[in-house]
Amino acid sequence: MTLLEFANPPRASRTVWKSLEVHHKKIRPLHMRDLFAQDPSRGERFVAEAADIVLDYSKNRINDTTMGLLLQLATESGVQARIDALFRGEQVNTTERRPALHVALRAPRGASIFVDGTNVVAQVHAVLDRMSHFCHRVRNGEWKGHAGKRIRNVINIGIGGSHLGPEMACRALKYYADPAINLGFVSNADESSFVEATRELDPAETLFVVCSKTFTTSETMANANAARQWLGDALGMERNVMARHFVAVSADTAQVAKYGIEASNTFEFWDWVGGRYSLCSAVGIPLMLSIGPEKFREMLEGFHQMDGHFLATPFHRNLPVLMGLLSIWYNNFFGSQSMAVLPYDQYLDRFPAYLQQLTMESNGKHVTLIGTDVTRDTAPICWGEQGTNGQHSFHQLLHQGTRIVPCDFILFSQTLHSNRHQHDMLVANAFAQAEALAFGKTADQVKAEGTADWMVPHLVQKGNRPSNMIVAPRLTPETLGKLVALYEHSVYTQAAIWNINPFDQWGVELGKELAQTILTELESVDQRELQHDSSTNALIRRYRRFQQVDRAA
Ligand code: F6P
Repeated sequence: MTLLEFANPPRASRTVWKSLEVHHKKIRPLHMRDLFAQDPSRGERFVAEAADIVLDYSKNRINDTTMGLLLQLATESGVQARIDALFRGEQVNTTERRPALHVALRAPRGASIFVDGTNVVAQVHAVLDRMSHFCHRVRNGEWKGHAGKRIRNVINIGIGGSHLGPEMACRALKYYADPAINLGFVSNADESSFVEATRELDPAETLFVVCSKTFTTSETMANANAARQWLGDALGMERNVMARHFVAVSADTAQVAKYGIEASNTFEFWDWVGGRYSLCSAVGIPLMLSIGPEKFREMLEGFHQMDGHFLATPFHRNLPVLMGLLSIWYNNFFGSQSMAVLPYDQYLDRFPAYLQQLTMESNGKHVTLIGTDVTRDTAPICWGEQGTNGQHSFHQLLHQGTRIVPCDFILFSQTLHSNRHQHDMLVANAFAQAEALAFGKTADQVKAEGTADWMVPHLVQKGNRPSNMIVAPRLTPETLGKLVALYEHSVYTQAAIWNINPFDQWGVELGKELAQTILTELESVDQRELQHDSSTNALIRRYRRFQQVDRAA
């Protein structure tokens, strides 16, 4: 497909959007109580399963006609051609003129995917092999720090996609982690992030992984400098200190070399890997150090299984496509502004934060591939928290608030620990929340409990609030891979339907540029004239005044 063809896909006919609008008017007043009453098999029919992941989407405000129309929308929008283009390595990231080949990062050894005539799968496995070798050496103590001590602490320095994926996955797979390795993450421009992560650590036992696709991100470079200083203060500034305590992960190896990290300590990835899609690349080094190369490869296998499912499964059984379409249904027809991700698993506590970057940095776009304004809302706001904690904070709004927030519940049938009863309790809560959201409690039910009339409205739960239930057997590295790929591809499906580019992020640039200018102004001695709006100018002046008072004190 040429770039032009790609940016001008077959447009879903106005008819199908129109039909969905008309159909929405019929569905909107229907209650899920009635939908379930009319179709007792609904709980078994609106279920899809792939690679051991079950998606029960029966508690949505849909019927067969809805699904038929949504699937037609996907077909008419050319989603299959988009998927094929992604997997073939075409330049789906049109504004940066690059492929987005995260699927190549988990393709098996021996597969072929070409970018500019090079088989990138061979490159991927060459780096994976180097990563494995390095991680084995650190894990078995062969890799020593400058003072001859074994590495006990690994601190990842990176932000955005160079932080959220590895952190989320390290927490998700902590059960499989080598307890001898203490992992830390430093991301924020705020120095507290570095100070607290290193407070108790022995520099002689600490390895820093400086992770940045561009190797120019200001927060990351500031934290890398802080790490260099911290090591230097304790161990000296010799070259060997860097060589034993610093490794880099980047797509710009020239920048890494300029920074003084040796090629043998540099793990490369490529510009065709988007930051938020990079967990399976060398960006995953902290995870590989923690769970070991074998388990890391099991995670890649999980990703690959979901990739294969997304590529080849008809849409009506295709989990990411179904999830993407349901998201569109609420976002574009019910006007839902947000979606909640509710993993009923403590280990997935950073999964919502990870999905925020994946979904919102990808699909938070206001123009189509050809630069025209989109005519429909794009990415909903993604938020969430692990269950059951959320039940005791924001679930009140989910149950009785005035907005519809579609929820994704995620849970595992088996516990990783020994207390079966406590796991049953966790799962019972997830099922109960979904049931309460869908069916609520009517005034008659409340009255039948002997409630005083004046209290009835307060206790009524209207219900009819949609959710997906995503169930997998057990949280393993493989399962985590499948779950992440499921969301990646759901995001891509939605982008294809909106005809937007999910792989660029131009919106973050202006803030970065302004911050550079303002930083100079905050630190300027000559108090140069400010050229911002009156609010920003006043804030800068006030900050400078406080700084002067601070210095004088
Ligand atoms: O500012 C946004 C962003 O570019 C993200 O897309 C990216 O994941 C993050 O910054 C970090 O970038 P890098 O890996 O180049 O340091």
